[in-house]
Amino acid sequence: MVLVVDDDAAIRTLVARRLEHAGYRTMVADNGDKALATLKQEIVDLVVLDVMMPGLDGYQVLEQVRARHTSTSLPVIMLTARDKGDDVVRALRLGANDYAIKPVDFAVLLKRMQVHLALRGGRSHSVGAYRLSKRIGAGGMGVVYAAVDTRTDRHVALKVLPRSLTIDESYVRRFMREAALAERVDHPNVVRLLDAGHDGETYYIAMELVEGKNLGELVVSTPLPVRKALAIALQMVAGLSSLKAAGVLHRDIKPENVIVSQTGVAKITDFGIARDAVAAGRMTESGVGVGSVMYASPEQIQGRGDYRSDLYSLGCTLFFMLTAKDPFPTDQPVATVFERKGQRPPKVRALLRTIPVAVEQLVARLMEPDPDRRFQRYEDIAAEIRACEGGKGKGHGMPSAAHLVAIGATVGALSLLLWLLFRYG
Ligand SMILES: Nc1ncnc2c1ncn2[C@@H]1O[C@H](COP(=O)(O)OP(=O)(O)O)[C@@H](O)[C@H]1O
Ligand SMILES: [Mg+2]
Repeated sequence: MVLVVDDDAAIRTLVARRLEHAGYRTMVADNGDKALATLKQEIVDLVVLDVMMPGLDGYQVLEQVRARHTSTSLPVIMLTARDKGDDVVRALRLGANDYAIKPVDFAVLLKRMQVHLALRGGRSHSVGAYRLSKRIGAGGMGVVYAAVDTRTDRHVALKVLPRSLTIDESYVRRFMREAALAERVDHPNVVRLLDAGHDGETYYIAMELVEGKNLGELVVSTPLPVRKALAIALQMVAGLSSLKAAGVLHRDIKPENVIVSQTGVAKITDFGIARDAVAAGRMTESGVGVGSVMYASPEQIQGRGDYRSDLYSLGCTLFFMLTAKDPFPTDQPVATVFERKGQRPPKVRALLRTIPVAVEQLVARLMEPDPDRRFQRYEDIAAEIRACEGGKGKGHGMPSAAHLVAIGATVGALSLLLWLLFRYG
């Protein structure tokens, strides 16, 4: 069922009639309130929504729709007037999946509807030479599907870029250039890029399919054992250093962008696009990518920075693995977080005393506000992680015999005190 929302009766009925002719069942609404009421009662598969309407306008309706339905569960195509590029950008930022310009070109509208309906169902749909089998992940910048390359029968992960990014041609060009760079990176700790291309207006990248969980899913609310966190960090260092050697800055290192395979291999994914997302101002307006701000270095938030920004984000990610907490409060405005990042790095031991001091210092040196005071070379970080792994650092994960004796003595003394208080107090 497709819901067509437009205050203009001529356009509304024309669009609905053409869609029915193409085999879609349709319903119409002539204002925003009726549209929202219809959505509460009917099972709607896609909405075609006019931007300019008296009463609730298209954006307001869209915001309410997005409060209840995700862009994959209920795709929305906005109808905008010609020469209103800003309207399109605004609609896409608010969560529209696509747009069509009035007067409506039906071939274009139908094609765009088909794409979104197919991606929504994740049904046996093809994008280029790839047959989608199931949805395996989504972030702020795409939906990732398990898919089969029909030319080779190889299983791949196919990331389909959202229309809000591909509408900008310069973005697509940069993205393709980065993909070409990344295709040269061949390292066990970096998700292998296999192909990048487009099928009509649908842009995609194909990559190695990793069976596993991203770090966000792996940690959830329980910290990883220190050894495991360090082992993953060490693999991330290896991956990042190979990216750097290929001239690729990641710019969006965070738990969701590190996948740990079932055999324990950590693989970095989702590189090369964060800068553009920041530049496009997507973060604050739609809440998309707020996580990225949390893990970005102070200089990166200001639009500067080099590979050492990735080190900072690695520090934040290690912080998360060790404590199961984001290093900075996620409910604060960006400005507050930014100020906090300029101060002394947060300490992991403030959250979990059992973490060795040396590990705390390692995290702090990655999270130094001033990039000159961070580690400068991946070799140095790797050496420090190994030193921590070998327990050569100050403090240990397990209490020593001396510690245990001291703890025992303290507990004994306290019980005696309590007993005395109870007896004579
Ligand atoms: N190659 C892959 N194999 C398996 N899962 C993947 C792969 N790439 C991404 N994913 C999953 O999909 C999620 C979103 O992918 P990502 O590329 O980070 O998209 P976004 O740019 O939207 O954040 C990841 O957090 C991960 O869980
Ligand atoms: Mg991601």
